[in-house]
Amino acid sequence: MTELDPVKVMKQEVGRAAAARVKSGSIVGLGTGSTTAFAIQFLGDRLKSGELKDVKGVPTSFQASVLAKKYGIPLVTLDDIDGIDIAIDGADEVDPQKNLIKGGGAAHTREKIVDSLAKEFIVVVDSSKMVDRLGSTFALPIEVLPLAITPVTRAIEKLGGKPELRLGIKKDGPVITDQGNMVLDVTFAAIDHPAELEKTLNNIPGVLENGLFIGLADLILIGEIIDGKPSVREF
Ligand code: A5P
Repeated sequence: MTELDPVKVMKQEVGRAAAARVKSGSIVGLGTGSTTAFAIQFLGDRLKSGELKDVKGVPTSFQASVLAKKYGIPLVTLDDIDGIDIAIDGADEVDPQKNLIKGGGAAHTREKIVDSLAKEFIVVVDSSKMVDRLGSTFALPIEVLPLAITPVTRAIEKLGGKPELRLGIKKDGPVITDQGNMVLDVTFAAIDHPAELEKTLNNIPGVLENGLFIGLADLILIGEIIDGKPSVREF
């Protein structure tokens, strides 16, 4: 018998729970990552069954557009709309104040634009993403213009961070973002003041955006397995 992967099951359940919160007529920010992929799929299912009508998506990455097209969600750009009703997106870490680290998929720049414009921003994670302090399990992703990679690396080192250029898999050389930039994954001994660090990093010339999402999330949906059964906790 094939064992179900518990992490996949948790991701599926939170994806379903987030998609269930979308109402007809909504403009929906479509996040990036393996958890949001389930939300996009379930949103598409609800549209297909006729349970939901007149929903449009704003993708946060090339990959989110591909999935939205696959599951039949019509897409719009930020130029076409006045606002976003609800955004659904994953995270790499979530702290007790609902602050996040994002960017494991190098999509955090567009994600921050879309998520911050939403009236309601819902984060979908499995329980492994909950941390007491940001930066404890995941290096902070920073999108950098290629021509500035050396000075930005030095500036981050001066701030006490250890930057590593993100490299491609099955491709020699760096990961290139949807915007044509590079990503530094930065390890800090401790991120004690995330709001301050977010601003300091974005103030380095050549930095486009970092993966600290401070004060943006409204609701965290956490996928858990309790007594062998998947459940979703609201936080
Ligand atoms: C994309 O750049 C990220 O911000 C993702 O939202 C984040 O990495 C979560 O992805 P998973 O749902 O695949 O863990």
